[in-house]
Amino acid sequence: MISTALRLLAVAAMALGLALPAWAGTAKPVQKDGKTYFEIDGELFPALEPLGPPPIPKDNPQGVDADGWPLKNDPKVKLGHFLFFEPALSGDGSVSCQTCHVQGAGWALNSAISRSYPGQSHWRNSQSVVNAAYMSKLFWDGHTASLETQAPSAAKGLAGNGKQDMMTARLTVVPEYVEMFEAAFGSANNPIHDAWRALSAFQRTLTSTDSPVDRYLRGEEDALDEAQVRGMDLFNGKARCIMCHNGKLASDEKFYNLGLPRQPLFSNIAKNQIGFRSQNYGAGLPEEMFRKTKSDLGLYHRTHNHEDAGLFRTQPLRFIEYTPPYYHNGVMDDLFEVVEFYNQGGGEDYILKDFGYSTKTDRLKELNLSDDEMDDLVAFLEGFSGPEILVQIPLLPKPPERVSTK
Ligand code: HEC
Ligand code: HEC
Repeated sequence: MISTALRLLAVAAMALGLALPAWAGTAKPVQKDGKTYFEIDGELFPALEPLGPPPIPKDNPQGVDADGWPLKNDPKVKLGHFLFFEPALSGDGSVSCQTCHVQGAGWALNSAISRSYPGQSHWRNSQSVVNAAYMSKLFWDGHTASLETQAPSAAKGLAGNGKQDMMTARLTVVPEYVEMFEAAFGSANNPIHDAWRALSAFQRTLTSTDSPVDRYLRGEEDALDEAQVRGMDLFNGKARCIMCHNGKLASDEKFYNLGLPRQPLFSNIAKNQIGFRSQNYGAGLPEEMFRKTKSDLGLYHRTHNHEDAGLFRTQPLRFIEYTPPYYHNGVMDDLFEVVEFYNQGGGEDYILKDFGYSTKTDRLKELNLSDDEMDDLVAFLEGFSGPEILVQIPLLPKPPERVSTK
């Protein structure tokens, strides 16, 4: 009955030119102030919504079309496209953004723990840069608020190990880059600052907004098949995913400890343990925390609040088909494993083991999903991925044989 009523409502809305998704099933949508929510444990969570164009910051404008989508032929985007592939933006000139955000691997890496600059290891899983343009908290622990501030920390930190002066000199010695900076920014006087801005403009063109889920949410009822629609109903209700993966981004951009398994690579491989310890030193961990921790402390690195230990940002779910393994420590290989993990109510809290107090979220509970229900949920999760995003590999300009010193 309810679902018939909703369908009628959807038809009526379409007649008015307002497409509404058909929330068929048992999870009950609640309307409040013109917005749709799902209620779980007495709390309201914003329904999933289709994704529109990414926000563009006022201090780094770029060309957009009539609907607000970033233009690919903007000179800033073109420069950013080159720089994304440019290894000059790293310490030894061998690592580009593309090295760890490989377009053929969903603009991420398919290893559990990312590589870093040569000879070292990173300590977290490499995130996709697709749709990073929408996030207001970047990185697994949300320690950066914009693409413009994220890019230098990638090039200079554990990823690239670049020195600012060296990277500046490498760019300005190449006449083609000087020209591209002039076309994009009016001058080549501030190349490194502008390099981060161009990279950001380029990343704002790497958006995935036309997945079957987006199309369904825009009112295209046959964009999802029956199993996926059943999976969506579980997502919004029985499986409780909507509590954190909600709204436009399928992420509330908040932080939780799910009780994920530890990453065994940390204890077994010296290079990874070095990457891990260096980050713990770098975050200024108090001695006691440094000595006791065997795993990534997540948000605690940023805040030094005990209740933040082991918390990580809710990941958005679009494009995930292309980006296994999953989670900040790459500890799960596929979406079945992910769903089984949630079905058990998450895992054991390693913060409790290491420190004697728990930070695990109480939102995760045993779900009692049947095998068929888990299949439906996985089918729905697969609907979050639209076409693969591939760009042309640019032919990078090289420094000339001789450089004029005049
Ligand atoms: C050596 C590997 C490596 C290189 C090189 C690298 N990254 Fe990353 N990137 C990572 C890892 C690992 C993370 C997650 C780090 C964390 O959360 O602490 C990440 C995270 C990001 C994110 C955050 C995405 C999100 O959802 O929050 C963006 C954006 C990004 N990188 C862009 C870049 C850009 C731009 C460059 C080049 C200037 C670059 N990266 C170079 C490994 C790398
Ligand atoms: C309590 C909040 C919460 C709930 C409920 C929740 N998630 Fe998550 N989800 C997260 C957080 C936080 C992460 C990242 C955690 C990390 O890496 O430590 C995540 C990560 C994921 C990832 C990995 C994405 C990637 O790029 O690595 C998938 C897939 C996922 N969740 C699906 C689901 C599904 C399906 C459900 C419902 C069965 C669900 N989540 C319920 C908070 C939640």
